[in-house]
Amino acid sequence: MLSPQFLVIEGLDGSGGTTQVARLADWLRSDRGVEVLCTNEPSNGPVGRFVRRSLNPASSEGRLGDGVLPYLFAADRRDHLDRVVLPALERPNSWVLSDRYYHSSLAYQSLSIGLPAVAQLNAPFRAPDLTVMIDLEPEVCLERIAQRGGVRERFEALDRLRTIRDAYEDVIEHCRTRGETIHRVSGDGDIEAVADRIRDVVSRWMEDRP
Ligand code: TMP
Repeated sequence: MLSPQFLVIEGLDGSGGTTQVARLADWLRSDRGVEVLCTNEPSNGPVGRFVRRSLNPASSEGRLGDGVLPYLFAADRRDHLDRVVLPALERPNSWVLSDRYYHSSLAYQSLSIGLPAVAQLNAPFRAPDLTVMIDLEPEVCLERIAQRGGVRERFEALDRLRTIRDAYEDVIEHCRTRGETIHRVSGDGDIEAVADRIRDVVSRWMEDRP
């Protein structure tokens, strides 16, 4: 039986993370016989729902300053871990697969308060066992966001995405220095091509595990 593992998929808005979480979970269940709980941040808990509403520019909550968001994301993370992630990891053969985790804060919120401050805020949280970063050109991300329609959230503008992509590079370095396993995969091509790359990374990582 496989011991519980905590996996995270990260990437820019429009890079396909949500779709790929579902694809990876299907494969882990059917091919590897693992029980998988799919989850996401912002979470579906009370703080997460509030954060999501406040990211919507048309929100009736009123716009929160960028300096407030790092604390709200961290509060949601604490709640998400305690309520969803950590209890699931207590169960045998149960994996958790999260669409975004603290790497999103380290990238997006570093723009407002700097990486050291966000890193300090997120230091108490359990590190994932494996993080897969989907890397895609911001221009392509924006095209995909436009195709799916809907409301544009706060971070979905080209300059902003370019800056966040650079910030993700610093995050990868920061996390690797702390001993985390992070693999980058290209988000180019269709859903199946990206899903294949991710399965490849996860398979190899599983083989290397003691
Ligand atoms: P989503 O569109 O992937 O659901 O995420 C919502 C937005 O929230 C997305 O633009 C990324 C952003 N975000 C942060 O800025 N910091 C965080 O810690 C998380 C989890 C998400």
